[in-house]
Amino acid sequence: MELIEHADALAPLSGGVLVPTMGALHAGHVALISAAVATGVRPVVVSIFVNPTQFAPGEDYERYPRTLQSDLAAAEAAGADAVFVPDVDDIYPAALPVPVPPLPAVATEPGLEDACRPGHFAGVTQVVARLFDLAGPIRAVFGEKDYQQLRVIEAMARAHPRRWQDLQIVPVPTVRADDGLALSSRNRYLDPPERDRALGVIRALRAAAETHPPELAESVMLAALRTHDLDVDYAVVRDASTLRPVTGSARPTRGLVAARVGSVRLIDNIARSVHT
Ligand code: PAJ
Repeated sequence: MELIEHADALAPLSGGVLVPTMGALHAGHVALISAAVATGVRPVVVSIFVNPTQFAPGEDYERYPRTLQSDLAAAEAAGADAVFVPDVDDIYPAALPVPVPPLPAVATEPGLEDACRPGHFAGVTQVVARLFDLAGPIRAVFGEKDYQQLRVIEAMARAHPRRWQDLQIVPVPTVRADDGLALSSRNRYLDPPERDRALGVIRALRAAAETHPPELAESVMLAALRTHDLDVDYAVVRDASTLRPVTGSARPTRGLVAARVGSVRLIDNIARSVHT
């Protein structure tokens, strides 16, 4: 496996599969790398970059876990051909302003991430567009764990068909611990009582998956989250593609939750059964 530390060494690897991450790799990231390998496209390039522009002041940029040595071992074991570990100057050179792409509508749907983390998706699209330009992939793999992010990146790629020709976004289902908690690099900050309370998120979502109509599912989620003493940012049912509020049509819907326990913000989501 090749270790690439500077952007100019990436060009020869274009035409492959990109797996963007912020490191602290866990089994969820490994599933993304395995899905990249399973596309059959080579090379598989994993990027590890804690992107400062997607963190607001006061968020956890400085204390975000950085575990490079074990990340390299995990990426290699999962079959990556190369790991790209740029530093901040490589991604954001002083001499070259890196533009923020126009935000697709799905990024600013009221009542979701943008309401809680304004500016977050501007930072995400900025870095992902830069990584796409540098790595020139024909596939890029993203997790359903960050469901709105996945939809935002898909919309961004669709909006620039000539800039990222032939690029397909490959979604990967959320990897969970045995008890259902979605794996996240930030779970390591949960103490045992908080880890128990965090299970309220998947319990709420599983209940919502089988509850109809959407308004009832939303109140069922809120009740489950409050039972677990979680601070709720949102607990909603939305159209699975646009993330707009559901209008009663027969389109697929998704339950989406963001809630805080201690200093950790948990996000998760679930597909809902189609109501017949
Ligand atoms: P990060 O949180 O490191 O996540 C990298 C990728 O792993 C994302 O596509 C995310 O959805 C996926 N992922 C995380 N936990 C997962 C799980 N339990 N199951 C499946 N996939 C999971 O998301 C980011 O980094 C950044 O915003 C990034 C896209 C790299 C831009 O900086």
